[in-house]
Amino acid sequence: MPAQTLRGGPPVVIAHRGSSRIEPEHTLGAYKRAIRDGADGVECDVRLTADRHLVCVHDRRVDRTSDGAGVVSALELAALEGLDWGSWKASHLDEDEMPLRHKAQILTLRQLIRTVQRAERQLDLVIETKHPTRYSGDVERALVALLAEFELLRPGRINVRLMSFSSMAVQRMARLAPHLERVQLTELPTALRFMDALPPNVHMVGTRIAVVRRIPAFVKRQHNYGHQVHVWTVDELEDVHLCLELGVDAIITNRPAMVREAVDAA
Ligand code: G3P
Ligand code: CA
Repeated sequence: MPAQTLRGGPPVVIAHRGSSRIEPEHTLGAYKRAIRDGADGVECDVRLTADRHLVCVHDRRVDRTSDGAGVVSALELAALEGLDWGSWKASHLDEDEMPLRHKAQILTLRQLIRTVQRAERQLDLVIETKHPTRYSGDVERALVALLAEFELLRPGRINVRLMSFSSMAVQRMARLAPHLERVQLTELPTALRFMDALPPNVHMVGTRIAVVRRIPAFVKRQHNYGHQVHVWTVDELEDVHLCLELGVDAIITNRPAMVREAVDAA
């Protein structure tokens, strides 16, 4: 029997780095597929390039998800555009998931915003700043400037949510973009601290599925504080069912088609 989410209704299904189980993560193809797969929203990680462009890349280095080498923040956008961000994925897929052996371009946050804007239905855009403390606020400032350019600093057709593992970054975003919802990400052991003490200026708490499996009461406790709960990365059906039973508010998944079906059937 599903429990209530904090705002009532079913949990939202958020595609983690796009439909990244099958498509190469953070590519345009992964996000277009997520929209086709029925996701309510998309998640992305952002980093600054050497010439101050926001790009959607998870790792500090380009090595795992492209055919290049080096640190994202030390490379200019033109150099990142010269790399192939798609072909690496083929070696991670099963036979039946072929032929997804294709090249892909790096995705800028600007391009992702345009894609979300062009979608036929309203979507959430959940943006995570990666290791923002190293940039001493540059990532958040660049992010808020870009959102301002697209008139996204207040909830509208696109509901932008900002998140980070760094509470310093979350507080900075609270000052720079006070009208947007903010998610404090947390892993063990910090998640345990949040069972009893509220991080300020936060609307939602995001944590890993392993934390929820181990401490199911985490969800109810956060709801009592008025915090919605995001859980990542929920790629197994039994974990989707656990999230539904606990009233998790946002399910972050690499497999939005599977989660969509399970949520709709519940
Ligand atoms: O949705 C939060 C989640 O994306 C945080 O972990 O490493 O996948 O960015 P990571
Ligand atoms: Ca992320």
